[in-house]
Amino acid sequence: MESLTVSKRDLVVVTGAGGFIGGHLVKRFLEAGHTVRAVDIKPLDEWYQVHRGVQNHAGPIKGDCRDFKVCRRVCEGANEVYQLAADMGGMGFIENNKALCMLSVLTNTHMLLAAQEAGVKTFFYASSACVYNADKQLDPQVTALKESDAYPGLPEDGYGWEKLFSERMCRHFREDFGMHTRVARFHNVYGPNGTWEGGREKAPAAICRKVIAAKISGRHEIEIWGDGNQTRSFMYIDDCVKGVERVAHSKVLEPLNLGSSELVSINQLVDIAEEIAGVKLIRHYKLDAPKGVAGRNSDNTKIREYLGWEPDTRLREGMEQTYRWILEQFSSKYTPRTAHKSSVSTYTKGSHPIPGDGFNPESKRMKTWKQGVPAGYGLPKVAAAPAKQVEQVKPAARRSAKITS
Ligand code: NAD
Ligand code: GDD
Repeated sequence: MESLTVSKRDLVVVTGAGGFIGGHLVKRFLEAGHTVRAVDIKPLDEWYQVHRGVQNHAGPIKGDCRDFKVCRRVCEGANEVYQLAADMGGMGFIENNKALCMLSVLTNTHMLLAAQEAGVKTFFYASSACVYNADKQLDPQVTALKESDAYPGLPEDGYGWEKLFSERMCRHFREDFGMHTRVARFHNVYGPNGTWEGGREKAPAAICRKVIAAKISGRHEIEIWGDGNQTRSFMYIDDCVKGVERVAHSKVLEPLNLGSSELVSINQLVDIAEEIAGVKLIRHYKLDAPKGVAGRNSDNTKIREYLGWEPDTRLREGMEQTYRWILEQFSSKYTPRTAHKSSVSTYTKGSHPIPGDGFNPESKRMKTWKQGVPAGYGLPKVAAAPAKQVEQVKPAARRSAKITS
């Protein structure tokens, strides 16, 4: 695959650089010899990684990319922009903070406009597997999601809709304004130097923390959200960084899956963490906790075809590194007597202040995904259904016809 070249002197901008993936990307670009500008709304002392020799734009005055003026300053003189800034987290956060997640549309819009104005050579956008149609993720033994499964649109409520909208906006900036926009859909990324407590953490980090807390406190129990049979694939951070570089510098115009294809259940993820820790825990299943989709995996046919590569770090190997890093963090913050306090953080609170309590009982399950979806969508097709079922779908089909006429 032919690639867009980037010179070592080029200025590379990473937004969301105080976060998990952004911090690793900054490190990688520095190692590659680029001049790097790192941007994040968080104050510098809250960044996961702060690197020397980087132009750091930190805090709400210099680093809030919802503000167009900030975006203009940030994009000045840039050759490449990696747009990772987003108000996001794992299921506990995104299911309970849908409006906040959607507000990232300001960040994406203003960064695109500012990058266009500054004439940047490449604009990379971090989209998500949450754009995929919910109806294609109802079974834990899910068929891996291919890129076309994002349509017809029925993404994760709030966060997924915003991602789908913003990736389409990237496409139209490319088609209408000739910008080199590139998009990857990340599937659950994990590794050291990311959120592991506070409410925004995703399953791999949360499970490591819970196993560590149980081991250190001597209370050999663990709470798992859902029944543990839901499935996911998890991508190690090193693969994510490699993939971002490759997608950004490729000539691939459509959004590409960037994820591992190693499917595991959450119970298997817990098995791995227990094995690393050398403990066996009593499992309690919290069935009313945020669960998201029943199953999700990445179909890597396209990325292999286009880039001759796919994420391939084994989960066991990546979890070993992640567990070790979280253990260090945990041990510097908690003692055997206070370890149980690490689970006090509720899933409705994020790592920086959230207006209101962010609790939305309606949003806990998939139901709200269907709001506004035309009546009849997803019901068995009338022609294919046996006579009895045809009777059942009639009223819905009539309503749908009324709406569209
Ligand atoms: P993260 O929360 O660790 O990092 C995001 C950073 O963006 C945070 O440091 C946050 O302070 C910053 N930010 C939020 N609003 C901002 C604003 N208005 N201006 C400037 N900075 C702002 O998350 P991450 O895991 O590193 O994710 C990075 C990107 O990848 C996000 O766009 C996310 O949606 C996407 N993504 C991540 C995953 C994953 O599993 N980690 C999966 C799919 C997509
Ligand atoms: N977070 C978390 N914490 N999840 C848990 C826990 C726990 O203690 N216990 C079990 N789970 C279950 C969740 O209920 C969910 O079914 C599954 O583990 C995965 O949860 P997350 O890792 O939080 O999120 P996700 O995989 O559903 O979605 C994530 O990945 C997307 C990309 O694939 C999110 O980070 C999205 O923001 C991201 O776009």
